[in-house]
Amino acid sequence: MNQTIIVTGGAGFIGANFVLSWIKLGLGTVVNLDKLTYAGNLENLEAIQHNPQHIFVHGDIADQALLAKLLAEYQPCAVVNFAAESHVDRSIHGPEDFIQTNVVGTFHLLEAVRAYWGQLNEEHRHNFRFLHVSTDEVYGSLGKSDAAFTETHAYAPNSPYSASKAASDHLVRAYHHTYGLPTLTTNCSNNYGPHHFPEKLIPLVIHNALAGQPLPIYGNGQQIRDWLYVEDHCAAIRRVLEAGQAGEVYNVGGWNEKPNIEIVRTLCRMLDVKKPRADGKSYAEQITFVEDRPGHDQRYAIDATKIANELGWKPKETFESGIEKTVHWYLENQDWVKNVTSGEYRNWVQTHYTERGEELA
Ligand code: NAD
Ligand code: TYD
Repeated sequence: MNQTIIVTGGAGFIGANFVLSWIKLGLGTVVNLDKLTYAGNLENLEAIQHNPQHIFVHGDIADQALLAKLLAEYQPCAVVNFAAESHVDRSIHGPEDFIQTNVVGTFHLLEAVRAYWGQLNEEHRHNFRFLHVSTDEVYGSLGKSDAAFTETHAYAPNSPYSASKAASDHLVRAYHHTYGLPTLTTNCSNNYGPHHFPEKLIPLVIHNALAGQPLPIYGNGQQIRDWLYVEDHCAAIRRVLEAGQAGEVYNVGGWNEKPNIEIVRTLCRMLDVKKPRADGKSYAEQITFVEDRPGHDQRYAIDATKIANELGWKPKETFESGIEKTVHWYLENQDWVKNVTSGEYRNWVQTHYTERGEELA
């Protein structure tokens, strides 16, 4: 079998970082299936748009016929599923898309993959992997002194987003136990880094600060998240693909818990130095406490001991080095931010990919 993989959702934040590093490392061909929702941005993949090892296909993971065709044509040795609706606030305002993509879509993807895998010869069946990228939010919320989430922590999702991801994790588990599909699931903490859509905390704060807008802190800002630099997450996924045991779940995290208010104050301090406000005041003046998110989870924390002990993965970046790279990227890529916040990125498809119109229809 060749080293071709199919990645879903590879035009989004983590998927694009994963595809870019996969190609950069020369690991093989990537067929990138993405629906290009508001969160999908082909500009993220500009660096590899003419690389023959990257094949972009515009489509939905719920389209089983398309998936069957792609699997038959490209004969991948693995499928890595990033495709999802991923924003908690959006899931509160409109949960339906989350059920459709995260639950129904994952189901159709699993069905197509099961059919493909079932007709492979024994060696290829043995080596094939379906890797499902999931979140620590499926485990629910922790109290201040609770132990961090291990892989055996009970599922207790609290938002429509986390409930839909929990449902997809259960489907993946069931396809392993019932059909023997060689699945892998990774449950990761909050990512940050380049190409992060500015609706999520870190890119939103950088963007709003520079635009002179309020920096909204939900509730008292004391909620805690465990932050991981996106490239470390990508490295963990590569390692799990390479050496993870079929049917297993691996928690991935940065050992880096921080309250939201601390994240925002750190960003303000960094921007005060790198891009001082014209009036000489601190960006912290723009911090605004706003009404809390309904059902806001208090604390997430990942115990990443299993992946460290069994697969030898550890994050390379500290929060200090990762956030430095991130702020630098946003300051250097203000055009990307402008295109995203103005909606111009949606036209990017037409202007840059017209020669591949067939695939993007
Ligand atoms: P994102 O919202 O930035 O990107 C999602 C991508 O999926 C977009 O390109 C979108 O167009 C595509 N997509 C959506 N619906 C689709 C469909 N039906 N068919 C094909 N493509 C579709 O999300 P992200 O932050 O990159 O997250 C990727 C995955 O990682 C998600 O499964 C998410 O649950 C998980 N995750 C994210 C984080 C995080 O901090 N961002 C942490 C842990 C796990
Ligand atoms: P977010 O980036 O949306 O990720 P998630 O909800 O998946 O953890 O939010 C991270 C934390 O920041 C979360 O506790 C909610 C909070 N938050 C704010 O306080 N203000 C904001 O404007 C946003 C987007 C998030």
